[in-house]
Amino acid sequence: MFKINENYQKLPGSYLFSTIAKKVAAFTQANPDKDIIRLGIGDVTQPLAPAVIEAMHKAVDEMGSAETFHGYAPDLGYEFLRNAIVEHDYTSRGCDIAPDEIFVSDGAKSDSANIQEIFGADNKIAVCDPVYPVYVDSNVMSGRTGVYNAETETWSDVIYMPCTMENGFVPEFPKETPDMIYLCLPNNPTGTTITKAKLQEWVDYANRVGAVIIYDGAYEAYISEEDVAHSIYECEGAKTCAIELKSFSKNAGFTGVRLGYTVVPKELKCQDVSLHGMWARRHGTKFNGAPYIVQRAGEATYSKEGRAQLQEQVAYYMKNAAVIKTGLKDAGYTVFGGVNAPYIWLKTPDNMTSWEFFDYLLERANVVGTPGSGFGPSGEGYFRLTAFGSSENTLAAIERVKKL
Ligand code: MLT
Repeated sequence: MFKINENYQKLPGSYLFSTIAKKVAAFTQANPDKDIIRLGIGDVTQPLAPAVIEAMHKAVDEMGSAETFHGYAPDLGYEFLRNAIVEHDYTSRGCDIAPDEIFVSDGAKSDSANIQEIFGADNKIAVCDPVYPVYVDSNVMSGRTGVYNAETETWSDVIYMPCTMENGFVPEFPKETPDMIYLCLPNNPTGTTITKAKLQEWVDYANRVGAVIIYDGAYEAYISEEDVAHSIYECEGAKTCAIELKSFSKNAGFTGVRLGYTVVPKELKCQDVSLHGMWARRHGTKFNGAPYIVQRAGEATYSKEGRAQLQEQVAYYMKNAAVIKTGLKDAGYTVFGGVNAPYIWLKTPDNMTSWEFFDYLLERANVVGTPGSGFGPSGEGYFRLTAFGSSENTLAAIERVKKL
């Protein structure tokens, strides 16, 4: 008889956003007349920028002619895209990253889940708590997390770095030394971030203890403050300890288009083994490249027009963030985030649990958010709202919440 990967059996419940979708579907079925406003999953609502659409149309036409047709994409991604990434995301910020250190992919979610594959099973991971669930779940699937304690909702072999109101949602160096450290900055779900100086401390720490940092920079486009790094490679020494994951989902609205990239610097080594070579091997074997049309769309996000149009989109969502933040504050809520990230993190009122507040908001205001406890035990008593809705829906949702 065949055997299954028993690690999957250890996963508690379903994926957070699937659970929420099921709950909302059940509510909608029972209350078909209710107008639900979804500020739960961080999915964008604005259409793709004109420069992106134009590039996609052109690429579609190219695919329709034998002379300009494209089959399998190169392993690492097309050079036109990798060059644009390097120029605009790294060189312009003083980071020395080469095009062949960029691995183009179908998004940061899959990369953040897959990257753990190139590390040994006995590595100890450290995560912020609360945390984007994919980091932990993917390590559970590969048997790296030990035993689950349903009471504390923690894994025996995971190092949790609590990020709470008390420490300003800034993780502290863990007491136990980790091998792999996941950092998402600006942070999902708390919407907060750390200064470049603080990030430098993490880089120095990782280099000192021999840990690797998996740095998720999916929300980088939302940084508005001066002293915040746009890439971990702005920090000295990051190339010997950090892998950076980037996404086109949040800055360019590619949630349904799918495009991202991972940077693995050649200097990043475990003794004399290059992680770059390992990820190249994995990428080449298991991935056949993001579609040509999508990579051309990605390239267009770096054109002059594309950049200006994306800036407008980011500003649009950040206006929503301000509306949510101010509205909730006026209504007496304690709120965080929304300055360098499109997420608002709020304290639930009247000591409600995160899921109690989820139900309360859904039933009484017909607004969907994300329960903080779904991101980890320290998220209990908090709740996340996304700024990615339309401005009309965002305003309407906040008016409803204010009336509760
Ligand atoms: C979120 O809502 O946390 C994100 O949209 C999920 C994701 O990007 O996969």
